Amino acid sequence: MPFYYRMKLLDKIGREFSGYNILESGKRLLDRKPLQCSLYVTDRCNLDCAYCTEYDNSRPHPSLDDLKKWIRKIRELGTMRIALVGGEPLVHPNIVELVRYCRELGFATSLTTNGFLLTRKLLAELEDAGLQVIQISVDRMTPSPITKKSFKTILPKLDYFRDSKISLHITGVICADTLPESRAVLETGLSRGIPTEVRLVHADPLHRFRVDRGPREALERFIDSMIERKHRGEKIHTSEAILNYQRSLLRGEHVEWTCMAGYKLFFVSAQGKFWICSMVHTNKDIMDVTLDDLYANYRKKSCQEGCGVYCAVSASLLVEKPVRVLGKEIVARAKRIPSMFRRSLTPDADKATHSAITNPDGTHEMNGSTKGGPFADDRVTLRKSV
Ligand SMILES: C[S@@+](CC[C@H](N)C(=O)[O-])C[C@H]1O[C@@H](n2cnc3c(N)ncnc32)[C@H](O)[C@@H]1O
Ligand code: SF4
Ligand code: SF4
Repeated sequence: MPFYYRMKLLDKIGREFSGYNILESGKRLLDRKPLQCSLYVTDRCNLDCAYCTEYDNSRPHPSLDDLKKWIRKIRELGTMRIALVGGEPLVHPNIVELVRYCRELGFATSLTTNGFLLTRKLLAELEDAGLQVIQISVDRMTPSPITKKSFKTILPKLDYFRDSKISLHITGVICADTLPESRAVLETGLSRGIPTEVRLVHADPLHRFRVDRGPREALERFIDSMIERKHRGEKIHTSEAILNYQRSLLRGEHVEWTCMAGYKLFFVSAQGKFWICSMVHTNKDIMDVTLDDLYANYRKKSCQEGCGVYCAVSASLLVEKPVRVLGKEIVARAKRIPSMFRRSLTPDADKATHSAITNPDGTHEMNGSTKGGPFADDRVTLRKSV
């Protein structure tokens, strides 16, 4: 195999396994320090998804100095990964500088965005600043009154990632409104070689809002089909542990786990407050948090039953059962290597994959309607309070 294609193959295999940062994360399985933090770089957002309790446009952006101070403190606690979230992180005027700062401090850095403000130039700046992962949220093929996050806006932007070092993931929310298009969202991402996941809308354990998830049987069938495809080695970005967990949620089955939120992972609000997770908040200033404070959150929580904060469930299961969770994920990813190998042997196929990833007119390839998508389902109840 020519040197260029050998290097490309190695690069692809490396990317398959990079999401877990296996060696780095391994340290955090053995000590008492935190693995990851989600930092709200702003509460402000350019959209208004009906299922979301995580934006507030009455608040100003936190200053760059405050954010840097909090980022330093998060690192001092020993945290390895930082996820920049919001609100919408790309509305913060200093987002590129924040990414650069996180990387200078040694964080593995990701950013979750609705993608509406993403331009080719901004992506290049984020790459130059060292960003490793972008997660773009896409719920539907076409916008609806419930969520505007659709492939109609995002498809033309996939081309920006053609030669980018930043890994792209697509994540969608499944609820009654989006379910009829969730399969098409999954197909669209996967068929372009993008690790893609669609996850059940989370119920708020504190009952601040209610969202109709949609018909249980249909949801269960859909989750089952994802588990099957994951077994076949498809690039479904959800771990099998979380797919199984979602199926148990739908069936009302009890799952035995210990929530590590507030300990191995935690959140910092756009006011610099320490939050256990996106749903459970405290008034403690992040600057006053100690490792003992974090360790005190290593306990089962009263809000565990039905918890839908999947990043917290995922990190908790990983820390609790590393061999089982990582083992299955490694096997699932390893199943993809033969097809990568075949593609690398045929240079034209590699080009074809690129054009499939980036074909802005790829709408005709979608396994689902791109026109006249279903309208909002009346059963979805909007946010009651934040
Ligand atoms: C709060 S958003 C912030 C980042 C950015 N504005 C976005 O939408 O990607 C972070 C992620 O949480 C997801 N999300 C928000 N509310 C949710 C809910 N009730 N259930 C499940 N996921 C939710 C969003 O779709 C997004 O992927
Ligand atoms: S999910 Fe993201 S884009 Fe939607 S309202 Fe919430 S913060 Fe904004
Ligand atoms: S169980 Fe943990 S992650 Fe879930 S809502 Fe409670 S504190 Fe948050």
